[in-house]
Amino acid sequence: MQELDIVILAAGKGSRMRSQTPKVLHTLAGKPLVQHVLDTAAELSPTRTHVVIGHGGEALRQALAGQNVTFAVQAEQKGTGHAVAQAQAQWGSGKVLVLYGDVPLIEIDTLSALLERVDDSHMGLLTVTLPDPTGYGRIKRNAQGEAVAIVEQKDASADELAITECNTGIMAMTSAQLTRWLPRLSNQNAQGEYYLTDVIALASEEGTRVCTAQPQSALEVEGINNRAQMAKLERAYQRRLAEALMEQGVALADPARLDVRGTLTCGEDVFIDVGCVFEGNVVLENGVSVGPYSVIKNSTLGAGSRIDSHSVIENTVSLGSNQVGPFARLRPGTRLAKDAKIGNFVETKNAEVGEGSKINHLSYVGDATLGQGVNVGAGTITCNYDGANKHRTVIEDEAFIGSNSALVAPVLIGKGATVGAGSTVTRDVDDHALALTRSPQTQKTPWARPVKKTS
Ligand code: UD1
Ligand code: CA
Repeated sequence: MQELDIVILAAGKGSRMRSQTPKVLHTLAGKPLVQHVLDTAAELSPTRTHVVIGHGGEALRQALAGQNVTFAVQAEQKGTGHAVAQAQAQWGSGKVLVLYGDVPLIEIDTLSALLERVDDSHMGLLTVTLPDPTGYGRIKRNAQGEAVAIVEQKDASADELAITECNTGIMAMTSAQLTRWLPRLSNQNAQGEYYLTDVIALASEEGTRVCTAQPQSALEVEGINNRAQMAKLERAYQRRLAEALMEQGVALADPARLDVRGTLTCGEDVFIDVGCVFEGNVVLENGVSVGPYSVIKNSTLGAGSRIDSHSVIENTVSLGSNQVGPFARLRPGTRLAKDAKIGNFVETKNAEVGEGSKINHLSYVGDATLGQGVNVGAGTITCNYDGANKHRTVIEDEAFIGSNSALVAPVLIGKGATVGAGSTVTRDVDDHALALTRSPQTQKTPWARPVKKTS
């Protein structure tokens, strides 16, 4: 296998984002722009991947720490040709592919096609024809239709500005060609920069054929310079995800109101209502329905489960036929056995809820294990924290917890036991016993209500 070096340009400031965060670290679908590029690059199994950094270089090093990339520092931004040259010392003897850190949606097939054209007498250039080419470098072709030069917007004549075939910036060549051409770039142009685009003319002059290829869709080569482009690309990306989900049979109330920031895997007959956000790895098994405005992160929801509106679910596993919400918050470590039910304004954390058990209203259940068929009344709190340590509450099968009870952990409620409403339980309760800490009711009769004074 021939060596492949991928050079990703990411030294620019991105001032139009008006942000403290370097441009390429802004996220699209929850993932930094440059990470999209790196993930696609990795699919090409390169020998080495180089990221050219400058502005925000430290932040980039940190964000990409531990990944298989080397950094090349471009201290001063003297142009795209100068940027590529910073990685020169590190590349090998095979092919070099140049990508942009702010062009996130480029696809592997497009890049493979481009790389296939490259050999000692051919280089590859990715171009795109745009109805409005403003700002882009234009592709100049000779009478035979061969690409012979790129002229930048700022250097172009009126005739050249009329050309609609544009430079995407993405190109591939052998490292020998690039090593030959880079020292010959000059900065005698409108911007006083070393343009990488000038290698096209150098290639053409020496008889190296410039083979052009186009992406499947213009979105692939769209770069991000400002927040508006960012938002546009985000919607386009989400739209593609939504379409793929619908093709797989997922019913979406509105494909324009879905956000997936990670991987969403769905079974058959899944329904997703408007405004839901899925983060990390989420699995919705057959027949799951998710109500409007729910947020689900790194969780698996078992077959036939119904999540009602405005529920927030994280690191949760549900085993099936569960009902959750509306307005439920399932925090990490929640595990719902079959048919378990979590109602409105209930928060759970590190909680195992047994088969058919119900926590229907206004409760906090944390660091708890509930058996089967348990009923937790409205307003129940597991007091799991003593100010220093967390303790566990265990509620065994068929126990019944009356409303507004405080279960002070560590505590165990035995099988079939009953806790009377309003109790504060500090000691274990035996199987089938009734625990009651409520003060006896008193009554005064007759009772005259106070009347408002008139002065
Ligand atoms: C460049 C191309 C232009 C093409 C356009 C596509 C050149 C001279 N022009 O123009 O033909 O149509 O991209 O979007 O190549 N960068 C560095 N160091 C530098 C300069 C740039 O790392 O010194 C990086 C930027 O961070 C960015 C990319 O290179 O990711 C492109 O730079 P930018 O200044 O946006 O180039 P354009 O003028 O848009
Ligand atoms: Ca640009």
